[in-house]
Amino acid sequence: MANLKVTLGDLSLKNPIMLASGILDSTPGILKRMAQTDAGALITKSISLKGRPGYPGPTAVEISPGTWINAMGLPNPGLQDFLEEFPLTTLKLPVIPNLVGDTPKDFETLAREVAMAGAKIVELNLSCPHPKANYSGNLTSQDPKAAADVIEATSKHLPVIAKLTPNVTDIGNVAVACAKAGATAISAINTLPALDVDPELERPILGNGFGGLSGAAIRPIGLRKVLEISKALNNEGISIPVIGMGGISDADDVVRYLLCGASMVQVGTCLTSNPEKLATICSGLCDWMNRKGYKKLSDFQGRILDWFE
Ligand code: SIN
Repeated sequence: MANLKVTLGDLSLKNPIMLASGILDSTPGILKRMAQTDAGALITKSISLKGRPGYPGPTAVEISPGTWINAMGLPNPGLQDFLEEFPLTTLKLPVIPNLVGDTPKDFETLAREVAMAGAKIVELNLSCPHPKANYSGNLTSQDPKAAADVIEATSKHLPVIAKLTPNVTDIGNVAVACAKAGATAISAINTLPALDVDPELERPILGNGFGGLSGAAIRPIGLRKVLEISKALNNEGISIPVIGMGGISDADDVVRYLLCGASMVQVGTCLTSNPEKLATICSGLCDWMNRKGYKKLSDFQGRILDWFE
């Protein structure tokens, strides 16, 4: 029987498949519902110090089957209200807060507060592709030094996962900077900066105009970026988990990311239409490993890296 257990910071997860930030995780009710799936952990929608109303609608549109464009505008009630509504230790399943701030100081305050509220690890959103001027700082991961500053400010309070944008020339360089600054893990990719247009209405499809592309179409980009991150970390002799995401919709997609060097994955967009899919993806990974005769994830994880020596 395949062993799917993984370690992330101080957490032990029953399997490597997590609910990605931003999907089915914006209210306590939905988080509780998702806790009944087989996820190894749940990641919350980004939480900021002060509440954010979000952008005008439409905020998320499926533009071709399985591929979405969104610009939600990081809507959330703000840290204190979030923690009151949803104590982080409510569920047996690990809940990992995703944090977003405009400055390293914002991120630090958020990290300190959630650590005091019981979080064991946080994911830092350094990569929302469509920040407004007054929501600055969210594309921090386009600048290795800026990303490292946020990691240094936060990782003294608890372990941190740096969530990176694919929209850079050398994502490996950014990942290495984050790791050297103290990141416990790297997650990638956030959505790709995008635009789609309604020809009838002669206007952008989204209320915000620009948005981020997610779902099936971005999987090959995610795989390449995860491979580049894994290779860059290996070249520096750095051994931290890479958490792959982008367009995962079945167990084969999970295997693809693990072969490219990911230790864990996050699943998001494909659950919009069917939350139950998460359980199917977990059991599908187990079935694939049993069929292949693999006992543990490390039996095949990273195997494709050798192709790109
Ligand atoms: C959003 O809330 O607009 C999306 C956040 C993100 O992609 O990081």
